[in-house]
Amino acid sequence: MKILIHPDAERAADCVAELIAARLRTEPATNLGLATGGTMEAVYARLIAAYRGGQVSFAGATSFNLDEYVGLPPDHPCSYWRYMREHLFDHVDLTDTHLPHGDAADAEVEAARYEAAIVAAGDIGLQLLGLGANGHIGFNEPTSSLSSLTRIKTLTRSTREANARYFERFEDVPRHAITMGIGTIMRADEVVLLAYGAGKVDAVAAMIEGPVSAACPASVLQMHRKVTVVIDEAAAKGLKLRAYYDEVHPDGGEALL
Ligand code: PGA
Repeated sequence: MKILIHPDAERAADCVAELIAARLRTEPATNLGLATGGTMEAVYARLIAAYRGGQVSFAGATSFNLDEYVGLPPDHPCSYWRYMREHLFDHVDLTDTHLPHGDAADAEVEAARYEAAIVAAGDIGLQLLGLGANGHIGFNEPTSSLSSLTRIKTLTRSTREANARYFERFEDVPRHAITMGIGTIMRADEVVLLAYGAGKVDAVAAMIEGPVSAACPASVLQMHRKVTVVIDEAAAKGLKLRAYYDEVHPDGGEALL
């Protein structure tokens, strides 16, 4: 794993936006794996600014999002379809976009269709990931099979509580989601994971330095060939090998290509 530790969340988001833009410049036809959540808002804002400034184009790219809530139609204000339109799709030249349909008549059939669509597209080139405070990637909650494919997952109470801020009431947060599996994510050519803030400190330490275990799904990334983890100081506080990471990449440097 390449561990890039930045002084603050702003710099970490700059770094991730630059990694995505650099990939699009060298490989415009990339299949981008995209993520939602509070963490990614700053990344998408930077990509929109870069697009407006003529520094990046998404015109040749295809995107597949990680997940969607079961039961929410694409126009629901809390759906990830809506999040993506508001935070990225409506503002850049990315037109070939894919997310699971949360309101499909049969969510299991929809999950299988989505997995097949990713395979048919040639799998993900660059997969962007956030990190749950419980170590989830996508909605692969702890104890998810490390070789799982796109399927329905039941959300943990802690994940529903973390996401309740987007809904009127906690009871409105869906109990299930369709999510790319861990096996799906692991087939990506390259993974870029972004996490910041003290709330992620335990998950970051378990992901990077803990054993590979379904108890922390993100720890499976230790077995991926090309992973860049971008974090801020606050999220890095639990790392035992911090001095080594600083020696390899001082100030999160080098990634600012
Ligand atoms: P967050 O979510 O960016 O809102 O913290 C991350 C995640 O749950 O993957």
